[in-house]
Amino acid sequence: MTRTLITGGLVITANDEVHADVLIEDGRVVGVAAPSSHGWTADRTLDATGKYVIPGGVDAHTHMEMPFGGTYASDDFESGTRAAAWGGTTTIIDFAIQSVGQSLRAGLDAWHAKADGKCAIDYGFHMIMSDVNESSLKEMDGLVSEGISSFKLFTAYPGVFFSDDGKILRAMQKAASNGGLIMMHAENGLAIDVLVEQALARGETDPRYHGEVRKALLEAEATHRVIKLAQVAGAPVYVVHVSAEEALHEIATARHKGLPVFGETCPQYLFLSTDNLAEPDFEGAKYVCSTPLRPKEHQAALWRGLRTNDLQVVSTDHCPFCFTGQKEMGRGDFSKIPNGLPGVENRMDLLHQAVVDGHITRRRWIEIACATPARVFGLYGRKGTIAPGADADIVIYDPAAEQTISAATHHMNVDYSAYEGRRIAGRVETVLSRGEVVIAQGEFKGRAGHGAYLARSTSQYLN
Ligand code: URP
Ligand code: ZN
Ligand code: ZN
Repeated sequence: MTRTLITGGLVITANDEVHADVLIEDGRVVGVAAPSSHGWTADRTLDATGKYVIPGGVDAHTHMEMPFGGTYASDDFESGTRAAAWGGTTTIIDFAIQSVGQSLRAGLDAWHAKADGKCAIDYGFHMIMSDVNESSLKEMDGLVSEGISSFKLFTAYPGVFFSDDGKILRAMQKAASNGGLIMMHAENGLAIDVLVEQALARGETDPRYHGEVRKALLEAEATHRVIKLAQVAGAPVYVVHVSAEEALHEIATARHKGLPVFGETCPQYLFLSTDNLAEPDFEGAKYVCSTPLRPKEHQAALWRGLRTNDLQVVSTDHCPFCFTGQKEMGRGDFSKIPNGLPGVENRMDLLHQAVVDGHITRRRWIEIACATPARVFGLYGRKGTIAPGADADIVIYDPAAEQTISAATHHMNVDYSAYEGRRIAGRVETVLSRGEVVIAQGEFKGRAGHGAYLARSTSQYLN
């Protein structure tokens, strides 16, 4: 039995901030107590004096090695989970993909094969449903009972991931009966495709037009529609990567009526804007993702939504593509730029900067980045908090340190940073995953294969 004691830090959870020592035994937290109140001994002591002791981050939205537009996201499960650990994230939930004509099982098996033996931190899966039919609807029951309790559907990307309203309704009805949670990518993809064609016909080929055709109104319309479909089905719905104030308004309105509607946003919508998409010399391609970056004015609404709990989760939607050779596929046609941004390593730091900047409190930081994603996706208790019985996924965070984000120093397998040159107050010092030190003294001490697959329960917000 290995005992580790973390001493002298400020333990921050979603509920509390206390100066306390944390005792870990065999990978689990077994005690949290005021320093003078216990006589604990341990094999190893980590001094956290002057530091924060926080739960490892739970990033509920990543796409390692995701196929998109004829290429693959450049982080695989090995490089992506290692980078996550560097940034203080100790759990990811990635999206397994069902392709059209394939079963959910085949998609899930393929994602298990990609991740098995590769991960530095623990991981679970959501299931992307690209082909809703009698057979895949039936499969949903089995997946929920074996720990894949959330399913993503799209009103965007016609011909690839798109589902029509009838299919979405059927999947929601199934989720209403088996306890699953439907996650929606909400943008009106059919209308967007018309605008893309018209923009290209006008010679509007630069990355900034990606943001112009994917209109906020079309995000709001789809958000409104999926909320209504969920209401008809009697199902909860979780709207992913909310970027537009108008879409947030739809979520807030539904929540104020007491509907089980959840909203996630991402650091890119909080810190970046259409100004980045308009960067010259095709540099804007680095910021092409969907939903797209919005004009700066939307940021204040998103921060407000996070404070008022109209938005509950900040995930990364980590889906990196190198500028050279990948983003460049869209030179001369913005619609061919692979969609997605890197960020799994940056989320905890950016949100700490938001604490320093006064957007959110320290406890809210932990709530939106650790506790709530764990709770929404059936991992809370094990993940997302520091309490007896929880996995010892713990970060010692130095709030007094300073760093500058850069592709030259990050660990993600991508040739640029979306946050290049940004100064951050605070830095991850030590990271434990189930009691094992994976980051310390500026070094990766973990190993591929340490990370375990997490079978999840149904959402703890719904039972
Ligand atoms: O641009 C994005 N978000 N790429 C990843 C796929 C998705 O829709 O989440
Ligand atoms: Zn999406
Ligand atoms: Zn995504």
